[in-house]
Amino acid sequence: MNVNLRVVILSSFVLILLALMIFRSCSRPPQKGKVVYQNHCASCHGNEGEGFRNLIPPLTDSNYLDANQDNFACIVGYGMDQEVIVNGTSYTQPMAGIEQLTPTQIANVANYVYGRWSTTKKKFTPKEIETLLGNCQ
Ligand code: HEC
Repeated sequence: MNVNLRVVILSSFVLILLALMIFRSCSRPPQKGKVVYQNHCASCHGNEGEGFRNLIPPLTDSNYLDANQDNFACIVGYGMDQEVIVNGTSYTQPMAGIEQLTPTQIANVANYVYGRWSTTKKKFTPKEIETLLGNCQ
């Protein structure tokens, strides 16, 4: 094999590897949101958003997340106390609001949850979360 060909093969190999690494770091959900998730949500909803038996709903129902983009901030900030049907199962335990979270922290956790489990992959800004929180019923 001549030297030029070897250089071409080697450098394309390196390029592919680099592209893969960049792609991986972009598609990884934001770290800050992961920390908020682990500290404030995972104890109930589970590390993989799997929920717990018929007591805690999973966060992996992308239909539910997609349809409730405008409610997410209110659920996290003020809690929820009504029957919810997720992945076909009914849940009736209430969730308390997590009042100590700032709009920035809610935006981070929203981006983490939507990045992992929604189909829309919606991105939330802290400003948007503040507006949504102002509209909660
Ligand atoms: C103490 C346990 C607990 C904690 C902590 C908790 N949740 Fe919940 N969550 C629940 C329960 C129970 C429900 C169902 C509420 C209902 O049916 O009214 C719920 C419902 C939800 C829902 C709507 C239904 C669904 O599964 O999509 C979302 C979204 C949600 N929680 C997100 C979060 C996020 C994000 C956090 C962390 C910031 C969090 N929760 C922390 C218990 C908890």
